[in-house]
Amino acid sequence: MAPDIDPMPQSYQYDVLIIGSGAAGLTVALNLPEHLKIAVISKADISSGATLWAQGGIAAVLDNEDSIENHIKDTLDAGAGLCHEDSVRFTVEHAKESIEWLIDSGVKFTRDHNAELHLTREGGHSHRRIIHAADATGHAVSTTLAEQAAARKNIQLLSNRVAVDLITNRKLALPGNRCVGAYILNLDNNHVELFRARFTVIATGGASKAYRYTTNPDGASGDGIAMAWRAGCRVANMEFNQFHPTCLYHPHAKSFLITEAVRGEGGHLLLPDGSRFMDRFDSRAELAPRDIVARAIDHEMKRLGADHLYLDISHKPADFIKHHFPTIYEKCLGFGIDITRDPIPVVPAAHYTCGGIVTDERARSDINQLYVVGEAAFTGLHGANRMASNSLLECLVYGRAAAADIARREADIPPAPEAPEWDESQVRDSDEDVVISHNWDELRHFMWDYVGIVRTTKRLQRAKHRVDLLASEIGEFYSNYRVSNDLLELRNLVTVADLIICSALQRKESRGLHYTLDYPGLLPEVKDTVLVPTTYRTLTP
Ligand code: FAD
Ligand code: SIN
Repeated sequence: MAPDIDPMPQSYQYDVLIIGSGAAGLTVALNLPEHLKIAVISKADISSGATLWAQGGIAAVLDNEDSIENHIKDTLDAGAGLCHEDSVRFTVEHAKESIEWLIDSGVKFTRDHNAELHLTREGGHSHRRIIHAADATGHAVSTTLAEQAAARKNIQLLSNRVAVDLITNRKLALPGNRCVGAYILNLDNNHVELFRARFTVIATGGASKAYRYTTNPDGASGDGIAMAWRAGCRVANMEFNQFHPTCLYHPHAKSFLITEAVRGEGGHLLLPDGSRFMDRFDSRAELAPRDIVARAIDHEMKRLGADHLYLDISHKPADFIKHHFPTIYEKCLGFGIDITRDPIPVVPAAHYTCGGIVTDERARSDINQLYVVGEAAFTGLHGANRMASNSLLECLVYGRAAAADIARREADIPPAPEAPEWDESQVRDSDEDVVISHNWDELRHFMWDYVGIVRTTKRLQRAKHRVDLLASEIGEFYSNYRVSNDLLELRNLVTVADLIICSALQRKESRGLHYTLDYPGLLPEVKDTVLVPTTYRTLTP
């Protein structure tokens, strides 16, 4: 039965509220029992988010020559000593069944001439183990899962709904440590509505929009991480923001990735004079893990004063290139670059948030009935540097684990208590929206300049000073003016930027993605950076 919806409602009740409709959110929704009434909300279209844009694929051991132990070892190596081995093992061991679930759900992966799944290769992987749908894997996953969810009568897909903040027992001054839903801005009528739920799942993706140059689509503003932090959850390893080595460099190309699979299938990184250079940095050359390749490109660009380098696959047959990389071929051709003949101009760009909200193996957070799945979560899988194509895998494995845990517990969890509706009586419309866009630009510039691929303590301190000023300005704005999507995103970005900077200042070594000139070596003790909000201490068991 479809849930009954009042035409002008201010308040709703669900069994499960899922914030985010990417691979993580939809995996949870589709694996929950069908008697549960579920809302999946997205702040833009249901297909918005990073998932739609994923190119390379999903890592899983599907070949007899490969092994679970190999995948574990590669992930641990790429993570520079900081991965939690139990999370890595859990993820890798559940990869095959997750892929089978996707195939059963209708995702069409690329197959070779024997109708076997084609496996490509990416940085850090010692074997071919990336299952993919040509170079548009995310599109295949996202559209198939969204179709499946739309066909389920118990799942309501709500686009243009922006989660503002979580509602917890603590906020309601009730006993117990429980999440009971969220306030949601409905962009269709500009009202904030009350969504109460027995379970809430954050699946809001990453925070790479904190940086000026990024491969991420709009919306990657770390909303879930900021909301959970405000509600009292611990956040870990935020200093490890991953920079993808190869984003297309072109004045009219916004955030277009050139997949690592181009290097996996033999592409070479070149200096402006046409020479290769990666073997000077790592014996795995172009297939070294991402942190090493991005840092090498950054180093060479600075050394030569170049504003980009090149990725070249034109030595491969044109038919091979067009067959494996049809999306990239067409996109680049649109900019006048024929990748079957020309090298592709590339630069590194912010790509993935390795840290996030602390969760356990069942995707539970520090607050009861609040789960976190996907890029917003910190599971311990990625350590100091995520290995390519382990992210969609994490969405699937932990999404299924969260759904199984909710299914196991739901009979014992009562409805959410009453909560007040959003109070708009003290705010007015903003007359200075330009301040929001200026602050956005300022934040993303100083994060790029001071908290980027190569850091120093002085630069981090400069960034900290600026983020503190912005935080107080935004706090004032938020208290006085009616909320809008831009204001909410800015407020969240300022929070995650602060979390990134504070984590980076705490790490007095260079490990994985965090590289600082002041501490170039590794410390003997391997430790996560766990930030604890003051509200965490007030959570009652
Ligand atoms: P997303 O897919 O980002 O979805 C987030 C959802 O949350 C969206 O629906 C969004 O609207 C919603 N949302 C956010 N904030 C709010 C809010 N406040 N209120 C309501 N809704 C909200 N990984 C791989 O493993 N393999 C790849 O090949 C690969 N390629 C990539 C290519 C690109 C260009 C990019 C950017 C990333 C790639 N990644 C890849 C990483 C991977 O795609 C992401 O980590 C993954 O898709 C994240 O999924 P998610 O469900 O956690 O979040
Ligand atoms: C890519 O295709 O290069 C992106 C893969 C990933 O981020 O895992």
